Amino acid sequence: TIPVITLDGPAASGKGTVAELVARELGFHYLDSGALYRIATLAALKAGVDPADSEGLTAVAEKLSPVFENGRILLEGEDVTLAIRSEEVSRATSKVAVVPGVRRALFDLQRRAARAPGLVADGRDMGTVVFPEAPLKVFLTASARVRAERRYKQLTARGETADLDLLTKDLEERDRRDRERAEAPLKPAADARLLDTTEMGIEEAVKKVLDWWTT
Ligand code: CDP
Repeated sequence: TIPVITLDGPAASGKGTVAELVARELGFHYLDSGALYRIATLAALKAGVDPADSEGLTAVAEKLSPVFENGRILLEGEDVTLAIRSEEVSRATSKVAVVPGVRRALFDLQRRAARAPGLVADGRDMGTVVFPEAPLKVFLTASARVRAERRYKQLTARGETADLDLLTKDLEERDRRDRERAEAPLKPAADARLLDTTEMGIEEAVKKVLDWWTT
């Protein structure tokens, strides 16, 4: 079996950055499952599907064939790497992600990412639903304020304007929706290790995960 490390947690908890660095360190593949939900959402927005139309959203997710190429994401030939990270798409994604049909459609795509020599997968339900057999599961947390500050830095570094109070509100709303949905709600797996990064830098978090992996 392929070794898998899962990193789950709320929005902007640092999962993505930590996961990528752990994967690089171990020479493992990296799955950004949130990107798949974001791509499905962008595809639905582009196709003009009503966000309340579960069947329409499911049909879009079932047809999805994104291409991952040198850190870029292509959707039907178009580079959507930046477009899927906008706040508009972030907000819409947490609504699309409640649709069971969408989650089912993306399940196989995620399972197929587990290839030799191993995988680091980040998201909301990696340890609970997609890779329940993973030998190391980590659940990252951080205070809402710290997470909003991190997202603020990401957005402004890209030249986008951002409002810290608004970001905090959006993050909390998104977390609530992720936690309260019926299908694959955001929660630590029973056998997950908790990692609070409120006062922890990326390097320290990466080191902690690598320590857990090797001991
Ligand atoms: O980077 P950030 O944490 O803000 O978001 P993300 O990890 O890219 O995920 C965006 C949204 O996709 C989340 O708010 C969830 O609603 C959804 N998602 C999910 O439902 N299941 C996953 N495994 C990953 C993301």
